[in-house]
Amino acid sequence: MARRMGWWGLGVLILLGAVAARAAETPHLNSTGFTSSQVCGTCHQDIFAMWKGSKHARAFENPIFAAAYRDLQREGGDARRLCLRCHAPIAGITGDLEAQQAITREGVTCDFCHSVAGVAIRDTDSPFVVEVGGPKRGPKVGASSAAHAIQPSILHKSSRLCGGCHEFRNPEGLTTISTFSEWRASSYPAELRACQDCHFLPVNGRSTIQTGNPVGSKIPDHRLQRSQEQLRDAVKLDVPQVTREAGRAVVRVAIRNTGSGHAVPTGHPSRRLLLKVEARSAGSGSLLGEATRTYQKQLLDGGGRVLVRDADLMRARNVSDNRIAPHEVRTETFMFSIPSGEAVRVRAEVEYLYRSHILASHEWRVLVSRQETTVPGN
Ligand code: HEC
Ligand code: HEC
Ligand code: HEC
Ligand code: HEC
Ligand code: HEC
Repeated sequence: MARRMGWWGLGVLILLGAVAARAAETPHLNSTGFTSSQVCGTCHQDIFAMWKGSKHARAFENPIFAAAYRDLQREGGDARRLCLRCHAPIAGITGDLEAQQAITREGVTCDFCHSVAGVAIRDTDSPFVVEVGGPKRGPKVGASSAAHAIQPSILHKSSRLCGGCHEFRNPEGLTTISTFSEWRASSYPAELRACQDCHFLPVNGRSTIQTGNPVGSKIPDHRLQRSQEQLRDAVKLDVPQVTREAGRAVVRVAIRNTGSGHAVPTGHPSRRLLLKVEARSAGSGSLLGEATRTYQKQLLDGGGRVLVRDADLMRARNVSDNRIAPHEVRTETFMFSIPSGEAVRVRAEVEYLYRSHILASHEWRVLVSRQETTVPGN
């Protein structure tokens, strides 16, 4: 068995398996390198279709990433080494750092994830141990296929597989993406709820065209697109508590992270949660006061200035972070001047806002929760 060091340093260990013997029974698969998702998709059609529409399939070609990557390249940083490790992970193993080959541009592709044999989370430069051209690893025990060898792998049910990419420390030593450590610090590991239990949920489909279509057969959802419905279940707002004091309404609003496995929002700092509270006269509807709170992680430079470009991820030295941790209940207090004797209606709502710093047009908002209450006049 030949062992070679990966391009990006000590951690990536490429194990070239004893593949020659299997070559005859795996005609379509590359036994000395990675196989394109197109080939996997000839048998695993349903999973291919789901993955194809996912952010993993677009991790390299997505224009928001591409723009940040170009900016960094222009500014002379070694963006290839820094960025491709997660956005086109096979590049560093095959040495195709210019992304000339179509398979490199497949981003987080099937054969990368299903060839991972181990993850050393602490090795932030190259956490993955990958067996190139070897058996395909997955969680099922007892699965077999004439097309390729299969290695049962509990790693594929574990958050560690995801943590190799969903945790990022920049060259300044600052952790800018901390989804994995947010999850690890929560009660979810003890509840045995891994990333996959929320993001790779079973949906109707067939594992392969060979396995036929038994009624009710389920496959793990590779789309990663449940976040909008998940969000509405994950973030809850209580009915505002309002008390009247001399000439003022004191409003208390509790916002709860009930269903997210990490902080809300998590991931790249282009996401924020917005809590808006307004008080209106119950009679005339006229606005008496309004206020907002924003929950987000912001990246700061050495002088404490907020960095807003995606490419600045690498330069950040500090963060300011007031996001809501898993299971946390955050209570906020607001005060509004109100005319005495008048009934007041108070409304609170939470919105999730995603905005790319590069493509201003790329923005989406989701109304997550809304609550209203009326206090009588005194
Ligand atoms: C980000 C890593 C990742 C990528 C990319 C990925 N998978 Fe998976 N795949 C997983 C994980 C994790 C599971 C196990 C999920 C579970 O059971 O909880 C899985 C499960 C599977 C299974 C088992 C299905 C079953 O019936 O249980 C197959 C087959 C599979 N993937 C094929 C593919 C193919 C084909 C592609 C590309 C079109 C692909 N995967 C892309 C991570 C990945
Ligand atoms: C010629 C058809 C064919 C091709 C091509 C193919 N597979 Fe498979 N694969 C199968 C069959 C059949 C099974 C067994 C399915 C079962 O028992 O549910 C399987 C099982 C798997 C499993 C095991 C699932 C588990 O949970 O343990 C994984 C992972 C997998 N394939 C990944 C891949 C990847 C990645 C590729 C492309 C590099 C690929 N396959 C290409 C036919 C194929
Ligand atoms: C090889 C690196 C890599 C691995 C392994 C990986 N991811 Fe990802 N993941 C990414 C990248 C890069 C993106 C962002 C792609 C983009 O938007 O350009 C992403 C995007 C996502 C998103 C969507 C984020 C969004 O903006 O909507 C989810 C959810 C996700 N991954 C979950 C998982 C889970 C769960 C696992 C483990 C089973 C996993 N990932 C494994 C690199 C990886
Ligand atoms: C208990 C369920 C649960 C678990 C466990 C969980 N997540 Fe999430 N995840 C969510 C919900 C709900 C959201 C949307 C709200 C938010 O941003 O926190 C989300 C959002 C995300 C996003 C942001 C992109 C998006 O689609 O909005 C990424 C990336 C992500 N999760 C990755 C992971 C990874 C990696 C793990 C494991 C380390 C993990 N998640 C564990 C429920 C979960
Ligand atoms: C350790 C893995 C990792 C590395 C290294 C990495 N990223 Fe990412 N990147 C991610 C993940 C995971 C996501 C998306 C999910 C999230 O928000 O957490 C992401 C998202 C992004 C996004 C947002 C994409 C969108 O659709 O909103 C941009 C832009 C980006 N990365 C640029 C870069 C650049 C430029 C580099 C190199 C300097 C880089 N990344 C290096 C893991 C990584």
